[in-house]
Amino acid sequence: MTQHLAAPSTGTSADAPGHRIGWWQDAVIYQVYPRSFADGNGDGMGDLAGVTARLPYLRDLGVDAVWLSPFYASPQADAGYDVADYRAIDPMFGTLLDADALIREAHALGLRIIVDLVPNHSSDQHEWFKRALAEGPGSALRDRYHFRPGKGADGELPPNDWESIFGGPAWTRTTNPDGTPGDWYLHLFAPEQPDFNWEHPAVADEFRSILRFWLDMGVDGFRVDVAHGLVKAHGLPDLGSHDQLKLLGNDVMPFFDQDGVHEIYRSWRTILDEYPGDRIAVAEAWTPTVERTANYVRPDEMHQAFNFQYLSTAWDAAELRTVIDSSLAAMRPVGAPTTWVLSNHDVTRHATRFANPPGLGTQIRTAGDRDKGLRRARAATLLMLALPGSAYVYQGEELGLPDVTDLPDEARQDPSFFRAEGQDGFRDGCRVPIPWTREGSSYGFGDGGSWLPQPAGWGELSIEAQTGTEGSTLELYRAAIAARREHPGLGAGTDVEWKSAPDGVLVLGRPGFVCTVNTTDAPVALPVPGTLLLASAPVAVDGDTVELPADTTVWWTV
Ligand code: GLC
Repeated sequence: MTQHLAAPSTGTSADAPGHRIGWWQDAVIYQVYPRSFADGNGDGMGDLAGVTARLPYLRDLGVDAVWLSPFYASPQADAGYDVADYRAIDPMFGTLLDADALIREAHALGLRIIVDLVPNHSSDQHEWFKRALAEGPGSALRDRYHFRPGKGADGELPPNDWESIFGGPAWTRTTNPDGTPGDWYLHLFAPEQPDFNWEHPAVADEFRSILRFWLDMGVDGFRVDVAHGLVKAHGLPDLGSHDQLKLLGNDVMPFFDQDGVHEIYRSWRTILDEYPGDRIAVAEAWTPTVERTANYVRPDEMHQAFNFQYLSTAWDAAELRTVIDSSLAAMRPVGAPTTWVLSNHDVTRHATRFANPPGLGTQIRTAGDRDKGLRRARAATLLMLALPGSAYVYQGEELGLPDVTDLPDEARQDPSFFRAEGQDGFRDGCRVPIPWTREGSSYGFGDGGSWLPQPAGWGELSIEAQTGTEGSTLELYRAAIAARREHPGLGAGTDVEWKSAPDGVLVLGRPGFVCTVNTTDAPVALPVPGTLLLASAPVAVDGDTVELPADTTVWWTV
């Protein structure tokens, strides 16, 4: 077993003078969703001890870093994205000592740790918010959130027309300590997630202190939740449209992607830079265009931003080429690496997205054609890992897991499922605990069952079943990530070289490599471009010709 030391990758961007160089530039970063990764204490819920025990698996997978979704003290109204105390671990996940052990053990194995930071909103059980409510109108603590009187004769209407991303109004009316109806407060997500007022200096001070707390704990970076949401347009103006869902993602909203957010990230960058060892911040910023996403990674702001335009692209050669080009072009002027992501805890897994017809969005309720979905998912992953920049892998995608689309309603926990007409709603399907073993309680996830039911057949997709199995998705990921380490050319630079290719096919040159992708439903014959290195499905090379099967990606060394 090889132990990969997380030596900072240097020099991989020699082709880009003045480009920032750091370990994160071409890193493969693995997202752990702590509830669903491994359960160390047998209560049916994943925890930090479980993650620590399984870190050797991640080292062997070959990833550079691990990003953990929130594990902080939280009433779990939104699976931990509602934080009551940013410096404490929720008992369901363990203790600060467990976090310390996890960080130390990861570092000893050569893995870096990125934690989630949730600055747009707190939990309604956060001390500040609880006191703001209890103290009633006039409490100075209310200025740290967005409290407003309602409209209408008796203040019975919300202060503006914004809707929650999870559906319903983005405002909830409070009850005064004397029992009378009171002011309203803003929550872009669930009512249990009141938005902070980032114009208040105490909020900014608090988050600078939280950053330092975790940096002192030794973390290597932060994934910044809803990074596009912190600043709201002055005066909280009405949107003036009843079709917020259509506007989201296509327009700058009065509550998303306001220019003022960048000031905050500049101040955070100075803190990150004070610490040794290349600590990074990664923006979860849903913006209308890749160009606006690039604003978050200007040289004095964050290091990376998720590329949701890429995640949202259909399995279609022309569309993929367009989004790859526009992503690279958008990042070039700011000198940040482009990132690539296909799945996370908020969207239907890509094996299921690609099993369904395009155009259904990222919350899909049908299983579709599973074989096709898996074939395409494997091909999509090999394409992603051949692109310059940093790639994100969501736990379980290395097993080719599909979304669990038939969860019974009574098992569902996603708050947006219960609020009609929300943007999201079917996120439980990608959050089902992953299978480690063929048999046993919750397929090796833990000794005490699983907080979301796992489907029959999960065991055959387990790490145990796939380890050492030729052609398994897990072995494909291992081989691909190992090849990226061995040939830094694969993740390096800021360009791809498009070569001529038939419709539905991509042939792209990378330093020392050619990657061929057939996105069509039929095999395609191509001239052999080099020596076959890795393929997402068996391919037949006949002399100078290769027959690329439907939905297949192949890496060639040249
Ligand atoms: C982000 C998280 C998502 C959460 C939301 C509110 O989008 O990824 O899971 O529900 O923020 O915090």
